[in-house]
Amino acid sequence: DLPSSTQDPKTIEDNSPVYVGREEDIKKSQRMTAVVHDREVVIFFHKGEYHAMDIRCYHSGGPLHLGEIEQRPCEVCTIILILQMRKSRLIEDFDGQACIVCPWHKYKITLSTGEGLYQSINPKDPSAVPKWCSKGVKQRTHTVTVKNGHIYVTLSKASDFKCDSDFYATGKFKVIQRPS
Ligand code: FES
Repeated sequence: DLPSSTQDPKTIEDNSPVYVGREEDIKKSQRMTAVVHDREVVIFFHKGEYHAMDIRCYHSGGPLHLGEIEQRPCEVCTIILILQMRKSRLIEDFDGQACIVCPWHKYKITLSTGEGLYQSINPKDPSAVPKWCSKGVKQRTHTVTVKNGHIYVTLSKASDFKCDSDFYATGKFKVIQRPS
């Protein structure tokens, strides 16, 4: 069962859902950050779906929560906005998969699975079009639950599998940004 919205998150055990905010707020901002059982996560609201993952990029700890959420352009402005968005947007659709693009070195991570994507081309075929390929799950994702307008995050079990982003979410590289 989900905890009630009045329950103090500090009293909740690890891997239990933690209240992180209100649905109406994330629908406005398209993203929020939270500390869930001493682990910093970012939650995205993208195209009607929620996604949560470790906040620091698996590559070198870049801040995945910084950046613009993709805007759906109006028809009149589509051409101009597409040109602008190619330069500036940090969430993009790659091969049909929505990704967060890390602001530090532009690594692409799928929102739904945490897979690192890269482009591959056949060097023996000059006419070949680059294809998006997966490096596998690199960024740990977590479960988002919504109940009565309240959003909860349940951490995935770190003991189930190792993930590269664990390096920046635990140990001496962990940096928790707590509100002052
Ligand atoms: Fe994210 Fe390098 S730290 S791409």
